[in-house]
Amino acid sequence: MIYWVKTLSQTKKIAKEFAQNIKNAKRLIIFLQGDLGTGKTTFVRFVLYYLGIKDFRGSPSFSIANEYLLNDKKIIHMDLYRVETKESLLNMGICEYFEENAIFFVEWPNLLEIKPDIMIKFILTNTQRSMEIDWGSN
Ligand SMILES: Nc1ncnc2c1ncn2[C@@H]1O[C@H](COP(=O)(O)OP(=O)(O)OP(=O)(O)O)[C@@H](O)[C@H]1O
Ligand SMILES: [Mg+2]
Repeated sequence: MIYWVKTLSQTKKIAKEFAQNIKNAKRLIIFLQGDLGTGKTTFVRFVLYYLGIKDFRGSPSFSIANEYLLNDKKIIHMDLYRVETKESLLNMGICEYFEENAIFFVEWPNLLEIKPDIMIKFILTNTQRSMEIDWGSN
């Protein structure tokens, strides 16, 4: 499904629907693809807001992941932009992260060799901004 998101409030609306759709999940892997500045972190911030997380800390800067607890649910926001090789991903303990029962939001997931449950692609051109959500087979 493709959504046109010319404004932040349009992104917010999609984020609200998205949060509704995933709020009962205990484990879910969501990949966010798209060039620099296309709106990945913004979308994660809004989704987390609607899930009930009011202390969003932006993209992780000193590690690869920020973790949030919401009642019995764990949410892990990863940004792998600065990771250059699969070896360094492994050294950072990427496997241990994915052993957890959590909802994973992963920006720059290219080096990961796992399949996401949901894939979101962000596109920004001179004239339009869009996001495409592929819900997989669920
Ligand atoms: N729908 C939108 N309408 C207008 N501006 C937007 C929209 N979504 C995001 N932005 C703006 O675009 C800028 C970049 O957004 P964001 O940081 O979310 O991108 P990103 O894809 O996470 O970038 P990076 O690849 O660097 O992590 C921000 O200033 C944000 O406010
Ligand atoms: Mg980002």
